[in-house]
Amino acid sequence: MSTDPRLLDHAALERSSVVANTAMNRERGLSGVNSYARDLGLDPFASLAERLPAPVRWIDVCCGSGRALLEAEARFAAEYPEAEVALLGIDLVGYFQGAPRTPRLRLVTASAHEWRPDGDADLVTCVHGLHYIGDKLALLTAMAGWLTPGGTLAAHFDPAGIRHRDGSSAARPVLAELRRAGVGYDSRRHLVTTRGPATLRFSASYLGADDTAGPGYTGQPAVTSHYGGDYSSIYSNSLDSMIPR
Ligand SMILES: C[S@@+](CC[C@H](N)C(=O)[O-])C[C@H]1O[C@@H](n2cnc3c(N)ncnc32)[C@H](O)[C@@H]1O
Repeated sequence: MSTDPRLLDHAALERSSVVANTAMNRERGLSGVNSYARDLGLDPFASLAERLPAPVRWIDVCCGSGRALLEAEARFAAEYPEAEVALLGIDLVGYFQGAPRTPRLRLVTASAHEWRPDGDADLVTCVHGLHYIGDKLALLTAMAGWLTPGGTLAAHFDPAGIRHRDGSSAARPVLAELRRAGVGYDSRRHLVTTRGPATLRFSASYLGADDTAGPGYTGQPAVTSHYGGDYSSIYSNSLDSMIPR
């Protein structure tokens, strides 16, 4: 996969100290100071509860300790004991804060580079997880496609972490493709959001990841993702329709 010695494939990236780092914040809860609700500007519990009594499903990619999901499991048990709720968290390292107490919750140790869900979800989140992923554009594309009609995706994303082969920023064409696909990007929160399934098409091909690029916007060491190929078709189409000249 790598053409440049600096670039790591998925297996090497997952062994990197930047990714398998025990000091990163994996402890965000559902709401409150250090929480999903705060960092996403969206309360996952409320967003799911408003869809009841239909069955609801939440997939949290790079779920860390699973604290937010464990808290959601407890709240659904207390407030909606009869509701059909599925909560699914996946993380590379499995440092989960506790075991699920009900069959509603599953915590899976797996790599988001390979893992795929067995069904769609009403809420898909990736809270400060994409910063450590190699092929960020593939995961973003996959997550946007996992949504039920009207479902919500919310994922932290730093466009500056997407680079051309030579290391220069590919942020502009990537943001243009998000706009073309009707996927929102909040640059203040560094947050991608969309409703319902969205179809993203990134024509560039993944080359590998650099774990030596230094801190991202969070101040923590992050991984840059490098792509080769031609972005120009995306870029010019999007410029024509979306970007004021
Ligand atoms: C900054 S933590 C955020 C955890 C959680 N979302 C939170 O906000 O508390 C990033 C998480 O991404 C996980 N991660 C990194 N690379 C991954 C991969 N390839 N597949 C799945 N999880 C990964 C890390 O293990 C870590 O738990």
